[in-house]
Amino acid sequence: MSARPDPKPAGAHACRADVFERCAAVRAASLERAAPLSAEDQCVQSMPDASPTKWHLAHTSWFFETVVLQAQQPGYRPFDARYGFLFNSYYESLGPRHPRPQRGLLTRPSQDEVLAYRAHVDAALDAFIESADAHRWEAALPLIELGLQHEQQHQELMLTDAKHLLSCNPLQPAYAADAPGGALARETAERLHPAALAGESLRWLQRPAGLAAIGHAGAGFAFDNELPRHRVLLREHQLASRPVACGEYLAFVRDGGYRRPQLWLSDGWAAVQSGGWRAPLYWSEVEAERPLVYTLHGPRRLDADQPVCHLSFYEAAAYAEWAGARLPTEHEWEAAADDGVLDARGEVWEWTRSSYDPYPGFRPMAGAVAEYNGKFMVGQLVLRGGSCATPAGHARASYRNFFPPGARWQFAGLRLARDV
Ligand SMILES: [Fe+2]
Repeated sequence: MSARPDPKPAGAHACRADVFERCAAVRAASLERAAPLSAEDQCVQSMPDASPTKWHLAHTSWFFETVVLQAQQPGYRPFDARYGFLFNSYYESLGPRHPRPQRGLLTRPSQDEVLAYRAHVDAALDAFIESADAHRWEAALPLIELGLQHEQQHQELMLTDAKHLLSCNPLQPAYAADAPGGALARETAERLHPAALAGESLRWLQRPAGLAAIGHAGAGFAFDNELPRHRVLLREHQLASRPVACGEYLAFVRDGGYRRPQLWLSDGWAAVQSGGWRAPLYWSEVEAERPLVYTLHGPRRLDADQPVCHLSFYEAAAYAEWAGARLPTEHEWEAAADDGVLDARGEVWEWTRSSYDPYPGFRPMAGAVAEYNGKFMVGQLVLRGGSCATPAGHARASYRNFFPPGARWQFAGLRLARDV
């Protein structure tokens, strides 16, 4: 973002200055995450579930262009009318699109053209923020905020997708070197790997039976899937004070966890066999005293005190079974977070035993973005918390992440629960 609007003391203009600043910061953060990657790194797609960095950079710009500028700015001219086909992700109401598994074939537009696309959208967004009349501003403000939250979701995917891509390279390259002064800002560089649990021993938190209020409350942003707030009945239970650590998970591996079908859900056992799973994704040399773990800093020996991650739901559920416990429901997790006994934003996402369903009375957002969340509410499990790759300030206690049960490439671990 180039120019800044004149600072005005109060009222709607002050609010616009805040939005302007926020847009600049969030959009810049995407480029910061892309910066350590070469143009070649940014074009390749390692699997159908992952997208190239270049595609993320273009798609998030397409979202602002389509949902904010084309909808709210009279006379807005798209940077390239063909980009809607290339960079629409899944919005049926916005027309046909390039197949997701073939995003890595888009060697054109070039890296430079995608960056020019971003700059075009940034400038148009700046001009809109500065000049939109009150009526349009009011209509656009929630959509701009949605665009920023959407971009932050893609920032997390940029890291997890790049990690999967680089892990496929026999050179096992680091996304970013540990040395200070690299391309990444210090704050981001420290968040490329889950922080260790500092040897904190597991405690069981007693959680009472009763009605709990679940869902977003208050004036801040929330996705439609966090609403409406409603009450659920919880049974008395216990919740672990921290996520499961790598050392604990290694004991499960050593105890034949991946060879004992009794511990696994049927679909999970099928995934173990078809995928040849013997340990979490990115672990190798599993027989070594300290297995090797591929990280965004390159390969490292396993740190027993780090929270285990890159697990599928199936692995999380099998571990819980082995440990004589179970996964918490998303309601148990949120009630504990609201009570202040859990960190609402952790180092790893935590699989829950809850299927990703609409809350009672769920109403999707209006317009094209009705497709944002609701249509994915089948066949997926909810994850709670946040991860080392989640942009600061993005997640909250009511935040509902979701993935299919076999997905392993996110920073996803688990916390144990048990019945009383
Ligand atoms: Fe998206």
